[in-house]
Amino acid sequence: MARLAIIYGTGFGNTGLMAQAIEEGAKSAGVEVIIKNVKESGIADVEGADAIAIGSATYKGEAMPEVIEFVKGMAGLSLKGKVGTAFGSYGWSGEASKVITGMLKGYGMDVMEPPLRIKRRPADAGLEECRQLGIQIAGKLK
Ligand SMILES: Cc1cc2nc3c(=O)[nH]c(=O)nc-3n(C[C@H](O)[C@H](O)[C@H](O)COP(=O)(O)O)c2cc1C
Repeated sequence: MARLAIIYGTGFGNTGLMAQAIEEGAKSAGVEVIIKNVKESGIADVEGADAIAIGSATYKGEAMPEVIEFVKGMAGLSLKGKVGTAFGSYGWSGEASKVITGMLKGYGMDVMEPPLRIKRRPADAGLEECRQLGIQIAGKLK
């Protein structure tokens, strides 16, 4: 079974809700999912995954530092051609998922664009967008 790793950073849970809905969508399309808050994750969680989704909320115009550190730590993995995507909740500028998209592209990943950004707490429509993203990721792994 194809495997998706979802690693996310969240201050107030909004990006976490996005992550859970992406998980739901991917699972409904038959993909095995590992989902972890970046604080509880290690590089082993993404090693060997067929697709990697990285989430971060935006704070002070930037992605969360622990998420950036995690993505930097992926540099040693063989990621070329693997499916990657970034996502995150934001308030007004939403830089985080754009920065992460650039980093994943730098690793030669097959990055889905534009990244999925949702303003503040995702409502039903936003959660549905996240589920659809999970389904799209699954589609790319078939
Ligand atoms: C101190 C602080 C700084 C923030 N800075 C930004 C920012 O620069 N750009 C932006 O788009 N949103 C900013 N936000 C809004 C958050 O990104 C938004 O509340 C988001 O939903 C938080 O997601 P989370 O619950 O996953 O942490 C900021 C919020 C706080 C509390």
